[in-house]
Amino acid sequence: MRVCEVTEFGGPEVLRPSEHPWPVPAAGEVVVSIAAANVNPSDLAARSGAHRRRMPDLLTPFVLGWDLAGAVSEVGAGASGYAVGDRVLGMIPWIQTGGRVGAYAEAAAVMPAWLAPRPENLDDVTAATVSLNALTARQALDLIAAPAGATVLVTGASGAVGGYATQLAVQDGLRVLAIASEGDEEWVAGLGPDEVLPRSTDLAGLDPVDAVIDAVPIGAAAAAPVRDAGVAVFTRRVEVGAERALRVQTPLVHCDPTALAELARRVASGSLRTRVARTLDLGDAAEAHRLAERGGLRGKIVLTTH
Ligand SMILES: NC(=O)c1ccc[n+]([C@@H]2O[C@H](COP(=O)([O-])OP(=O)(O)OC[C@H]3O[C@@H](n4cnc5c(N)ncnc54)[C@H](OP(=O)(O)O)[C@@H]3O)[C@@H](O)[C@H]2O)c1
Repeated sequence: MRVCEVTEFGGPEVLRPSEHPWPVPAAGEVVVSIAAANVNPSDLAARSGAHRRRMPDLLTPFVLGWDLAGAVSEVGAGASGYAVGDRVLGMIPWIQTGGRVGAYAEAAAVMPAWLAPRPENLDDVTAATVSLNALTARQALDLIAAPAGATVLVTGASGAVGGYATQLAVQDGLRVLAIASEGDEEWVAGLGPDEVLPRSTDLAGLDPVDAVIDAVPIGAAAAAPVRDAGVAVFTRRVEVGAERALRVQTPLVHCDPTALAELARRVASGSLRTRVARTLDLGDAAEAHRLAERGGLRGKIVLTTH
């Protein structure tokens, strides 16, 4: 099968097409024939070597990729919940599994708990943009556990995690202030927040909020408007001064098939929006990384296998 693998740590050019044997499911696993895989910031960090801080045993070559959409092509001994031909989406917990399997491939052997059924009207490319980022947003809001009416600030609302966090927070009944990228205010307003703030906003000058989801993450400055005893959730480790009496959380997303199935249903029904900036062939993963690194994308880059 075709894969795109990281041959050594470095720039996008180290991502090269290669041939691997078609995966054989171990006991309890299923093989997914992958139609589409999403390109995420974590993939860029793994490719460059930045992830070696948290994954010291990561050795090249390896196949990147958390997010996949496709169909089950084989069911391993003792694997339950799926049959050959079932349409699925899912998230390989790439860091937790040490990068031993990735979605930049025509197929992957995965645990059924990493997957959820894919609604009929959810196409491959759209489905590939859901799992990692919508689960991250859902889990950030669950950590905050704010009552309806509480105010949450979301940074990076033009991006994937921030966009999902904005919509899910609104749907949870929270009051949401969302920070949009320049020129992207209209898209972010369509996600339903109470206020859209420009990226140039002086966050320390805002009225106090109960919590922040710093999806960028900007870092300590994003926590400035959070009231004492409020919650600050960051998507990557950042330094927040110990002088602030905040509950600071830096969770790593985890698989949750029940939550993922619900998120997929919402995307399919149109109540959660996601967007795709470009679709490229799997063999063009290096170009996808170049574009993603440049920033300013309005949506995800999705790699397709056919
Ligand atoms: N902890 C976890 O489990 C977990 C899970 C998923 C993602 N993450 C992390 O979450 C972060 C966001 O991921 P994503 O997929 O949502 O990325 P994304 O789609 O690229 O979105 C990031 C957004 O932040 C904006 N941005 C960049 N710098 C900014 C700044 N200084 N001020 C305000 N906005 C800024 C970007 O806008 P422009 O492109 O216009 O600059 C973009 O819209 C990444 O660091 C990722 O690694 C963590």
